[in-house]
Amino acid sequence: MRLVLVGPPGAGKGTQAEFIAAHLSVPKISTGDIFRANVSQGTPLGTEAKRYMDAGKLVPDEVTINMVRDRLAEPDASEGFLLDGFPRTVPQAAALDKLLADFGTALDLVLELVVDDDEVIRRLSGRRTCRGCGKIWHVEFDAPTRESMCDRCGAELFQREDDKPETIAARLREYAEKTAPLVDYYGAQGKLVGIDATGPVEDVTVRAIDALRSYG
Ligand code: AP5
Ligand code: ZN
Repeated sequence: MRLVLVGPPGAGKGTQAEFIAAHLSVPKISTGDIFRANVSQGTPLGTEAKRYMDAGKLVPDEVTINMVRDRLAEPDASEGFLLDGFPRTVPQAAALDKLLADFGTALDLVLELVVDDDEVIRRLSGRRTCRGCGKIWHVEFDAPTRESMCDRCGAELFQREDDKPETIAARLREYAEKTAPLVDYYGAQGKLVGIDATGPVEDVTVRAIDALRSYG
């Protein structure tokens, strides 16, 4: 299955992507994770992306599209994938459609995680990420048993640079302006399914998998 997860920052895309990708046995491809890996390795791509990420802005389309094109050409993505955080603009969506058409295929479904801004702010301000395995935690909603330490691998947890209040506000503005139009874009293609992404993580996963079942 070729699936896209869309939703505002903090909607739970990364959290749900892990479960859904495992359920579908497809690779999870997160543009945010790829950019962050490049930032921590100090690559030229990371240096360029960091300027935008720290300001809560989107990385330019051309840079992002080229990066995704390379990733989708890898063998593990040939039978299906779950895209988390891409596309995020209408030009990115159009480029993805074209890229997949060149491969002789197309997207199956776009799953939209629906949550309001207040919930997003609560989620992002309490998010912690594991330095070792990348698992996403929350100080209140999904807290590890030992403070600042991952239960899964024992590594230290950190707070993302872009989870500061002023950067969260910029990311929400960027979402409303540039990403929200994708709802109409994919709606017009008949590929969009929205689910309520509030409530416990497990409940959202059940809703997501039910949605895939009914449309798959
Ligand atoms: P990216 O990493 O994609 O960030 P984002 O879209 O802002 O999304 P987040 O990762 O912040 O949130 P999420 O929806 O994954 O939520 P999570 O599961 O962590 O992008 C970062 C930056 O990279 C962008 O700003 C941009 O600069 C650049 N970039 C990336 N892709 C790009 C693109 N295509 N084009 C251009 N630029 C791009 O959950 C959040 C918190 O909530 C966690 O603590 C979690 O534990 C908690 N939580 C999750 N679910 C629940 C629940 N049901 N109940 C309670 N808490 C929950
Ligand atoms: Zn860990």
